[in-house]
Amino acid sequence: MKTAHTRSVFATNIYECQIADPAKEEAFLDELKAGVIMLSEEDKAGQQWCEEQGYLGYTSYASLNDLPQRIPAFADLEKRLVKAANKFAKELGFELGDHKLSMDSFWVNVLDPGAGHSGHIHPNSILSGTFYLDLPEGSSAIRYEDPRLPFMMNSPPLKTDIAPERKRFIYVQPQVGNALFWESWLRHEVPVNFADEPRLSISFNLS
Ligand code: NI
Repeated sequence: MKTAHTRSVFATNIYECQIADPAKEEAFLDELKAGVIMLSEEDKAGQQWCEEQGYLGYTSYASLNDLPQRIPAFADLEKRLVKAANKFAKELGFELGDHKLSMDSFWVNVLDPGAGHSGHIHPNSILSGTFYLDLPEGSSAIRYEDPRLPFMMNSPPLKTDIAPERKRFIYVQPQVGNALFWESWLRHEVPVNFADEPRLSISFNLS
């Protein structure tokens, strides 16, 4: 028999990197946390939007678009995220000419116990991601879905012990101080938060 070779093609990448070191930058993380709590308590329009949408907890997604101007630590965070995102863009092989990806939107999420966020993509963006600020014990992972899933009508189910890159769904358990980045078309969801405390994160889109 001749030698055989299988090619893996059409990569889907999820980039993770440390944005703030929890061991050395406690003050920075505390400032971000205080900012998130402050917004969740004071942003009446955001609270109302969450109530109308049935969002258990708080997100500034629909109400505020100037977080880096409001809170200095958010401006610092934004800079770090943009830098990391551009490293990822390089890895992805994007031809951007003289341009760099820049932050397009930036919002905080306070996910209450028992709350989740159903599957979605982030339209009109190139890269999206989330920075993790507080993950109490039992906090939700993030779940990504194989983008080819709609084509798999007749494809058999998979064995459970297969390699991660073959799975149809991937769960990533985030770390505090880290951010995850992915291409905005990649469908993802946050399953129910089983922690006793809210899960705090900051999400963003780059274009
Ligand atoms: Ni999302």
